[in-house]
Amino acid sequence: KQEEKTWMLKAHRLMAQLYHHILLERKEGQEALRYLQQRGFNEETIKTFQLGYAPDSWDFVTRFLAKRNFPLPLMEKAGLLAKGEGGDRYFDRFRGRVMFPIWDNQGQVIGFGGRLIGEGHPKYLNSPETLIFHKSKQLFNFHRARQNMRQHQTAVLFEGYGDVLSAYQAGILYATATLGTALSEDQARLLRRNAEKVIICYDGDEAGMNAAVRAAEELHQQGCLVKVATVPDDLDPDDYIQTFGAEAFRRQVLDQAQSLTAFQLERLKKGRRLSDDGERMAYIQDALRVISRLRRAVERDHYLRQLADEFSLSLDALKREQYQLYKQER
Ligand code: UTP
Ligand code: MN
Ligand code: MN
Ligand code: MN
Ligand code: MN
Repeated sequence: KQEEKTWMLKAHRLMAQLYHHILLERKEGQEALRYLQQRGFNEETIKTFQLGYAPDSWDFVTRFLAKRNFPLPLMEKAGLLAKGEGGDRYFDRFRGRVMFPIWDNQGQVIGFGGRLIGEGHPKYLNSPETLIFHKSKQLFNFHRARQNMRQHQTAVLFEGYGDVLSAYQAGILYATATLGTALSEDQARLLRRNAEKVIICYDGDEAGMNAAVRAAEELHQQGCLVKVATVPDDLDPDDYIQTFGAEAFRRQVLDQAQSLTAFQLERLKKGRRLSDDGERMAYIQDALRVISRLRRAVERDHYLRQLADEFSLSLDALKREQYQLYKQER
């Protein structure tokens, strides 16, 4: 087992170097390099994250590894190669993709995310679970961000690799992201051990906002002070930074991060005409439901007062309504 891991790590380190070299120095990598530059990633970022390009070939990696005596069955187990159905022929798993190395907490490459240059499915192909790569235990860029997280006792959690890269370029060095899955308990704990406050900044679409609520709940359970930052609904943080710049992202997005409850209440308002009596009452009912799920009485009190002020309602009436819901929830 240990020997297998050593081989796998060695192969990943070599492949990351080779993919990176191809991206920057070889003709096959030119289109991918142009693509990354067009997305606004500069040379320093590309080098820091050791981005690369996997040539559009069935046997480029296979031959490279075979020539260096890496056992091919093991390389398949490592997720670098694939095998034809029933057959015993190996071929390259990542073909024609921009490669994002994934590091573990010790700074070793343990996997890759590979993005297509154009449209197509899947947009990202990630390494499978292996002896060295555990998606639910790692966070993208964590090893690089850790020091900064500790220093500021703050972490920013994104959905995607590109978001982390753009944030890095904008000088936000405590950014990290999950690896294409929901935030796990282990990942939440890892964040908690290194930062008191976590700002969740997911994509502005419906999927992103739903995932943000779940991540916030997980982080809250682990004892983090959680904030949720939002970008306009047709953008993600990467797009936002590349369009409006670092300064706007800090001031308009990160600095405006809200508590989970405030975020949920604001979301419930979207698409409702609150000047209409019926829609307003429906909103209040939904808002009370969110509030009644809060564990601490002082928190419930805080948001009830806010709701009472906002709609000129009697706090007493709201409290009675909320108490009914509260009893139902328990
Ligand atoms: P998104 O669809 O938001 O992608 O998925 P993105 O990061 O903004 O990608 P770009 O900007 O178009 O390049 C968020 C994350 O979910 C995972 C990846 O980790 C991605 O960064 N994902 C997405 C996959 O694993 N596979 C996919 O096919 C798509
Ligand atoms: Mn395991
Ligand atoms: Mn998304
Ligand atoms: Mn996105
Ligand atoms: Mn994106």
